[in-house]
Amino acid sequence: MFQKFIRCWDGRLRKYADRYLNRSDLLKDKDFQSIYSKVGTRKSKYTLTSMERCYSLYKAIQYIAKGNIPGDIVECGVWRGGSAMLAALTLIKNDQTYRKIYLYDTYEGMSKPTDKDIDIHGVPYRLLWEKEKELLTVSLNEVKKNMLSTGYPEENIIFIKGMVEDTIPLTIPNQVALLRLDTDLYESTYHELIHLYPKVIPQGVLIIDDYGHFQGAQEATDKYFSEKSRKILLHRIDYSCRIGIKPTS
Ligand SMILES: C[S@@+](CC[C@H](N)C(=O)[O-])C[C@H]1O[C@@H](n2cnc3c(N)ncnc32)[C@H](O)[C@@H]1O
Repeated sequence: MFQKFIRCWDGRLRKYADRYLNRSDLLKDKDFQSIYSKVGTRKSKYTLTSMERCYSLYKAIQYIAKGNIPGDIVECGVWRGGSAMLAALTLIKNDQTYRKIYLYDTYEGMSKPTDKDIDIHGVPYRLLWEKEKELLTVSLNEVKKNMLSTGYPEENIIFIKGMVEDTIPLTIPNQVALLRLDTDLYESTYHELIHLYPKVIPQGVLIIDDYGHFQGAQEATDKYFSEKSRKILLHRIDYSCRIGIKPTS
């Protein structure tokens, strides 16, 4: 009786673990793991994102490289540079270091939130902002050092310092193959979409890191895509991150 009970619970726990915790497919991908070990593990913590998000970025860069989708790589909201390092390492692996990597950040931490910026738990971000400001402040010099450690050609990494609301569209690429938005908040996300999404080439990739975590990032994205009947399928990577391919018009 007891053994039957244990067996039943064991089965249920395994199903639960498989559904929510099983990463064996990601762990088996040795090429990915060798890149991920340089940016995402506890020892080398250069990114705030999860293994799932790193894997989707890795596959998106591979898709661009193998499909010869033209254009540059753009990240808004860089922190220590981990996602950009992963993109650079994947481009090196695919012999595509001619692409420029544009990295937009204040390099002085998060900009001021508005009332729209509320997290998934209903906590207004202005309450967390003062505390997180320090954690999320990484200097330009430190990010430069991290990026150069990948071996990606220095002349193809472009650091744009300042609030995206001020630096975009002053400095933007002509053509974007992959656009990754990770500044978390309503105003910056909407501003980035307005100016950078039109530069994404059809079949290029859009990633919104905070769609599920921050109500403001979600509102900005939904607003942008509902205007002028723009269409995109944003696919769920995890509870927060979304990825989509720009349709050909
Ligand atoms: C969540 S972190 C980015 C995480 C990073 N992409 C990673 O892979 O770990 C958010 C970043 O956005 C930057 N940021 C926030 N608001 C910004 C704004 N309005 N303009 C430029 N950068 C901003 C912050 O300085 C911070 O580095």
